[in-house]
Amino acid sequence: MKVLETEFAKGMIRLAGDGFAQGWHERNGGNLSYRLTEEDVCSVQDDLKLDGAFLPIGASVPGLAGEYFLVTGSGKFFRNVPLAPEDALAVIRVDQKGENYQLVWGLQNGGKPTSELPTHLMNHEVKKRKTKGAHRVIYHCHPANIIALTFVLPLKDEVFTRELWEMATECPVVFPDGIGVVEWMVPGGREIAVKTSELMELYDVAIWAHHGIFCSGETFDLTFGLAHTVEKSAEILVKTLSMAPKKLQTIEPDGFRQLAKDFGVSLPEKFLFEKG
Ligand code: 13P
Ligand code: ZN
Repeated sequence: MKVLETEFAKGMIRLAGDGFAQGWHERNGGNLSYRLTEEDVCSVQDDLKLDGAFLPIGASVPGLAGEYFLVTGSGKFFRNVPLAPEDALAVIRVDQKGENYQLVWGLQNGGKPTSELPTHLMNHEVKKRKTKGAHRVIYHCHPANIIALTFVLPLKDEVFTRELWEMATECPVVFPDGIGVVEWMVPGGREIAVKTSELMELYDVAIWAHHGIFCSGETFDLTFGLAHTVEKSAEILVKTLSMAPKKLQTIEPDGFRQLAKDFGVSLPEKFLFEKG
């Protein structure tokens, strides 16, 4: 089977188009990766070239030894993924040490995997362990409202989680564990990858101040839906703050506790503090 005939490649391409349509992927902004199942790898074996050089990942991910990933290429535009996926995407294989990767498919006209490969793979390593293999998708995008909020809210997990939960009743049900925030850092390297992957131990969403967000999920739909829910909530908060600096009414801590009971989720008490 050809890579582009698979459901996982189709899912990746659809998400890229949907993300561009939302306005979250100016130029080459954002990147996306998917960890293949063993069946995925078997099904495309004949379409892969396994004799290329191994190159350094820039991070150590021993928990991903031998795993295959479909990833976006560095400098590739999301809007072009549906038009020329074999140019914009790559399948890579991680070596047995978890230190190097080999390009085995794609990037037809040259290039390399996303510059955020260290963050993607370190997040995958954490999520593979924490979810016993269930999470397979890591998505990074640049949604304007979330980014805007990182200029006016304190860069604290508790503040972002609580403010975004308050903006839409569904939010605590969609991301009950909350949201982590990484202060501004230079992107593209190991340092920001380490910080982000620490937050992925606790949350499925990490905000990068003045830059964008990273989301983790089981499927393309769930991961995109998570980013979509967070950004919608951020949009409501931006609108609310633009109309009035102080809310007249909102969902109170006891409301969240009631919601948690009725919807069968557990909401950490650290987010349900009394506001002064
Ligand atoms: P890449 O084009 O290397 O994926 O970088 C885009 C980006 O959003 C960096 O954070
Ligand atoms: Zn980015």
